Amino acid sequence: MPESMMMIVSTLEELRSARLILDEPVGLVPTMGYLHEGHLSLVQRAQEECASVVVSIFVNPTQFGPNEDLAAYPRDMERDLRLLESLGVNLVWTPTPEIMYPSGYQTWVQVEALAELLEGAMRPGHFRGVTTVVAKLFNGVRPAKAYFGQKDAQQVAVIRRMARDLNFPIEIIVCPTVREPDGLAMSSRNAYLDPEQHQAATVLYRALSTAKDAYEAGERDAEKLRVLMRDTLAAEPLAEMQYVSCADYDTLEELEQITGKTLLSMAVFVGKTRLIDNFVIG
Ligand code: PAF
Repeated sequence: MPESMMMIVSTLEELRSARLILDEPVGLVPTMGYLHEGHLSLVQRAQEECASVVVSIFVNPTQFGPNEDLAAYPRDMERDLRLLESLGVNLVWTPTPEIMYPSGYQTWVQVEALAELLEGAMRPGHFRGVTTVVAKLFNGVRPAKAYFGQKDAQQVAVIRRMARDLNFPIEIIVCPTVREPDGLAMSSRNAYLDPEQHQAATVLYRALSTAKDAYEAGERDAEKLRVLMRDTLAAEPLAEMQYVSCADYDTLEELEQITGKTLLSMAVFVGKTRLIDNFVIG
């Protein structure tokens, strides 16, 4: 389908009609908009693997806590649509909150233990919102494959669990974190950072790199890696650590010794902006 034919739909009825004329297999890239190179890399991967690509843009209110940044979350629909059209995306779905959660809405999808650790412990209800909206996006688009970024490592683990547990016939594809040249992981929330905070925010990458270097030099004591990450973060005056973790890649349980695939992850405030990042080692 030529670039100029990108379809943009909002209602479920429009989505159903547009979905009918897409070539199979269909790849879905779920987003909350304010697209950056990380999202574009997901679109490009989907285009390599699928005959049609659908991108959803929806700032999902149910995954934001009461004191989080829902109202302030950056939005620029015109720019996003221009970018997606230039990439040759076939269909963009931009539902409204009323379409996703009409009056009387009361059905939720909730992954249990895996969603209660790390981000789940810091942001109660967050993953319930994510899995509910992703299940609705999956049901609406019925893709063969769906694309997510490794930057949200726990989100990927939780969505994978949901897809398996609820028999969604959808392959979950995880794409590498895209970083700025200074190491900062791409995120729509980076838009909140002033230049000084942006510089300070590179401490997440530095802390993860320090732990990874120690692992590569032979360190297998998980607490030693957590201490290295904490110490690196503590040396940056503008950064305030929320947690650091060295956990089993599959269960996300904290480790004592590193014996297999391991997730190093952290959440850090820089000013009022909460940033997360991770490395996979082992
Ligand atoms: O990663 C995101 O942008 C969101 O959590 C997602 C997967 C689009 C669900 O709202």
